[in-house]
Amino acid sequence: MSEKKILVTGGAGYIGAHTVVELFRAGYHPVIIDDLTKSDTTLLTGIEKIIGKKPTFYQGSSCDYDFLRKVFQKDGPISCVMHFAAYKSVGESVHEPLMYYRNNINSLVAVLEIMQENNVKDFIFSSSCTVYGEPDTIPVTEDAPFKRAESPYGATKQMCERILEDTHLRNLRIISLRYFNPIGAHESGFIGELPIGIPGNLVPYITQTAAGKREKLTVFGDDYNTPDGSCIRDFIHVVDLAQAHVKAMEHLNTLSDKKLYDTFNVGTGQGVSVLELIEKFEHITGVKLNYKIGSRRPGDIEKVYADPTKINNGLGWSTKFSVEDALLHAWQWEQNLLKSSNR
Ligand code: UD1
Repeated sequence: MSEKKILVTGGAGYIGAHTVVELFRAGYHPVIIDDLTKSDTTLLTGIEKIIGKKPTFYQGSSCDYDFLRKVFQKDGPISCVMHFAAYKSVGESVHEPLMYYRNNINSLVAVLEIMQENNVKDFIFSSSCTVYGEPDTIPVTEDAPFKRAESPYGATKQMCERILEDTHLRNLRIISLRYFNPIGAHESGFIGELPIGIPGNLVPYITQTAAGKREKLTVFGDDYNTPDGSCIRDFIHVVDLAQAHVKAMEHLNTLSDKKLYDTFNVGTGQGVSVLELIEKFEHITGVKLNYKIGSRRPGDIEKVYADPTKINNGLGWSTKFSVEDALLHAWQWEQNLLKSSNR
């Protein structure tokens, strides 16, 4: 039997690229689309090095109906769509809200409409723990209420989930995966996070500072109501997260007609503070990090980590990598980038 084709929108990006590799490993044929506006071909080259062949790739926007139609015609039949293509910078979304609403909402609607035209039923969505806002209780479970989103980015994830909740009535089978904080890189060192310009996220900022590309890391606040005063997050290895997508897709077959939409937290269940993460990085790499304590970053949540019981039991998924593994792999990736002087 030929391999099932899985359309991966945003497959040249950080989480998409790692998922492409896991799909290959599980015997599927990923078809990547990406407009390369927030990425370039670096990760496509990295994927090729890992899997030993060029992945199927089309450059174009997930908001573009004609482009999507062509891909479905040329590379069909598609059995499932994994939708990663979205803007994801919290700070940028505050300054460019309409750009975020236009891109993140329109691409979802376009992909769903083209799926319906092509009678494709299975869909996995990249959601985020940001949908919970500042949760009342932690660890946070899937039935925690959505609080008002802290940013337009967060609002787009909430709206997309609402669209999916309504759309499942149209006979689609859908799972939203709510990611906590994905970090790390592939063990091979060939793919990892590739921020454009100054990194907004913590781990790329740490590795770039350790590599001498940035002078100093600023820890955004040490006066939170946490044991060491810094924020607490649930840092999950990106390869574990990628594997959750394969499990979720395979689980779609078991969804019954009564419940064709489901959501899962994807986290470790372990809260780690920003200062603890820095300490772990220094310990595992032997590199002393230049950092200072700064003021709080507007919009930050004080502490959030997942209750992963539902995904552990429901999908038979659990993490294989530790936070230390993730930090080491992120550091190896940064060093490889330095060697190839790509960034
Ligand atoms: C945010 C979103 C998350 C999204 C992710 C993608 C929220 C609540 N969370 O995660 O849904 O998937 O962005 O970009 O909207 N920090 C520093 N110094 C730095 C950078 C970060 O101290 O230079 C701290 C932050 O204050 C935070 C922690 O590190 O406490 C993690 O920050 P970051 O990596 O940006 O992710 P989140 O904001 O948690």
